[in-house]
Amino acid sequence: MFQFHDPRDWFFRARFGMFVHWGIYAINGWHEQEHYRLGMQRDAYRRLASRFNPQAFNPDKWLDLAEQSGMRYIVMIAKHMDGFCMFDSAVSDFKITNTPFKKDIVGMLADACHRRNFHFGVYFSALDNLHKNYPRTGKGHESAAEPGDEPDYDKYMQFIRAQVRELCSNYGKLDMFWWDTNRTGIVDRSVNALIRNLQPSCVINDRGWDEGDFGTPERNYDKSAYAFEAFARPTEACESIGSQSWGFRKDEDYFTPHYLMRRMDMMLSKRANFLLNVGPDADGLIPPEQARILQVIGRWYNRVGEAWQDTGFSCGLTANRDVILTSKNNVLYVHLIEEPKTTSVILNPINILPARATLLNTGEPVGFDLNRLPILHMEPVKTALRLYHLPVERLINELPVIKLEFDRPIENWPVVAVTGQETSTAVQ
Ligand code: GLC
Repeated sequence: MFQFHDPRDWFFRARFGMFVHWGIYAINGWHEQEHYRLGMQRDAYRRLASRFNPQAFNPDKWLDLAEQSGMRYIVMIAKHMDGFCMFDSAVSDFKITNTPFKKDIVGMLADACHRRNFHFGVYFSALDNLHKNYPRTGKGHESAAEPGDEPDYDKYMQFIRAQVRELCSNYGKLDMFWWDTNRTGIVDRSVNALIRNLQPSCVINDRGWDEGDFGTPERNYDKSAYAFEAFARPTEACESIGSQSWGFRKDEDYFTPHYLMRRMDMMLSKRANFLLNVGPDADGLIPPEQARILQVIGRWYNRVGEAWQDTGFSCGLTANRDVILTSKNNVLYVHLIEEPKTTSVILNPINILPARATLLNTGEPVGFDLNRLPILHMEPVKTALRLYHLPVERLINELPVIKLEFDRPIENWPVVAVTGQETSTAVQ
């Protein structure tokens, strides 16, 4: 298990968090990078701020939804690549307190989190497309220069440091600093040192001026990935429930809950945290379809979540590549990461009977035996643990997780070579 051995260890207990992409881009509802992706002029983009007035914003409603869904932390956009500050920065005029809304949204959310002991983090873009001193590098996500720009790395860094100091000083305890898009390629440890000095429980990601505390695979679903090892360093995978955008998008094509469950399962099993993003609308509401998807995922997560509490990644115990295995002590969890092809699961070469088998999704018992399987007729061991009569058709929209309790610890069981090749469940 990973540990920092300091207050940052909250991160390994929390596991599942809510990411929130919210800013003035919610007004047009196209994409959080509309300024860059549509090639908008800065002045036209800036004018959106005069229309931002999310009267329905109530941080407790967001946190209720997050908590009910099993999430234990929230990471809110303090500033995206458009440079708009959702906090009252003293070094920028392009900010929430200069909109008709006037109130400091980061502050309101931070207060609500602190009141209910919910871990609070901020996303902060290292790239600020609307700042005249931003030193363009010609890399992705940078919009065009405009007349009057004065690229200057040192001045820009003074500005960044001032805002980092504000976020780390003015909002109480900060648990996560989520950098994005440092295009400079420069390593400068003094930037994260500033955060660490001010906020000892703050975990920092790897997209700033050094590698930080944890890696951030994004929208990453390598289907072969589960065949190999768990992550070697602390990791947090992120994904949005919208397939096109992270910010609010009118007419978004949402991922299905089942697809998101597979992504989560794979990442959580490999010991990563999972940060699932929502995009509130311009009124400050998490749209009903987004809330519904989170609730479906939450009901599932709350029932099967023990399969990722202090568990190790144990896929090497079986040759069956349609499942992921996690384990602790004498308990093995079987995750049906692929759509089940039959109503049974064969876990060869495991050849030991559990004392009990339970489908965590519903709490019902699962049938099991050591079956003499035709498919194993050439193998030295001709029987294998089979879980059978699984109600897979009833669970067609969710990912089944089965808990197997053995009468001995499983840690010394033989490990099979993991090839990444599919094994067939049918007789050949
Ligand atoms: C992608 C998006 C960016 C978003 C980020 C979150 O890089 O382009 O807008 O903030 O994902 O990880």
